[in-house]
Amino acid sequence: MKFNTKTIHGNQEHDKAYGSVMPPIYQTTTYAQTTPGGHKGYEYSRSGNPTRTALENSFASIENGTYGLAFGSGMAAIDAVMKLLKPGDEVISTNDLYGGSYRLFTKIFQDFGVKFHFVGMENPAHIESYLNKSTKLIWVETPSNPMMNIIDIKAVSVIAKKHNILFAVDNTFATPYLQQPLDLGADIVMHSATKYLGGHSDVVMGGLVVKAKDLADKLYFIQNASGAVCGPQDSFLVLRGIKTLHIRMQRHCENGKAVAEYLNQHPKIEKVYWPGFENHPNHDIAKSQMKDFGGMVSFTTKGNNYEEAISIIEKLKIFTLAESLGGVESLAGHPASMTHASIPKDEREKTGVVDSLIRLSVGIEDEEDLIADLKQAIG
Ligand SMILES: Cc1ncc(COP(=O)(O)O)c(C=O)c1O
Repeated sequence: MKFNTKTIHGNQEHDKAYGSVMPPIYQTTTYAQTTPGGHKGYEYSRSGNPTRTALENSFASIENGTYGLAFGSGMAAIDAVMKLLKPGDEVISTNDLYGGSYRLFTKIFQDFGVKFHFVGMENPAHIESYLNKSTKLIWVETPSNPMMNIIDIKAVSVIAKKHNILFAVDNTFATPYLQQPLDLGADIVMHSATKYLGGHSDVVMGGLVVKAKDLADKLYFIQNASGAVCGPQDSFLVLRGIKTLHIRMQRHCENGKAVAEYLNQHPKIEKVYWPGFENHPNHDIAKSQMKDFGGMVSFTTKGNNYEEAISIIEKLKIFTLAESLGGVESLAGHPASMTHASIPKDEREKTGVVDSLIRLSVGIEDEEDLIADLKQAIG
């Protein structure tokens, strides 16, 4: 199956009871047994639920993996990966990553004895100097949130394989429509399915996809033992979202390009961060590992003026000022005070998250309306 077909049919089967085309929402915690252990594959919904299974199978299909796991949020999915580690283990992570991931690493797992190195990986060779015998995981976000840095997944995977280290990619921004990290050598793909996979800003959910059975078994154990699972109703909604992922992403990319190009020529705008520009530092890698450049665009205003950035955001009418991204509607955010507020100011400014930075999640409305909205807000 090709990708667009997989979003709709990948690893799916019609319901055995009545042939319903969409899986029923099995709103149940438990399953009748004829004798202890005499069940039809499901015992208790933390361990497994048929609607969640349908979604997990879809996750595996669209990411070209073998095993999918769904969680109650993206953070719960990352938490499960971190629980593969032991005190004394070390992680090398991109230095420009979602603030919540940084918070989980530094405020929770660091206290459990895991050591983190936050490294600029635009040149993957930088990773080598942080490697030692304790390094157990490389964690990468690409494109990164919110600076749109691009990391060469294949090059990092070569380093990870050489040193026998697990390699995980947060694929939330790109989605498998644009890039499939397992095919490029990653061991684990992670999603905040809250974003593009769900696609309608109505579900909080996370996902993991892997190929190796031993790794899948460990993660299924953690999923059940720690219990951060999602419910059947939410599983159904994300499954429904995935069925239109390809057409939504196509429009997100078209609109993202139009918005990035509009901002780039605007005299009041200092810098636009979007991997589709030829002068983006890793444009060639983006071009080779992604099908298109996505719908996320960040920019700063001339003079790096905090008040001006806030005033632009407040004037926007079609772009809604809100946390999150990846829904059909366009959103604007101020990373320094919103998504990345949990990263200390000097740390975040080192990576470019300055006070005038505005992040846009460009939705699938009419391009002309989006440009007109930016025009009236920026002036
Ligand atoms: C790149 C990225 N990873 C992970 C997360 C966390 O996902 P969730 O909010 O579903 O827990 C987010 C949320 O914004 C994100 O943008």
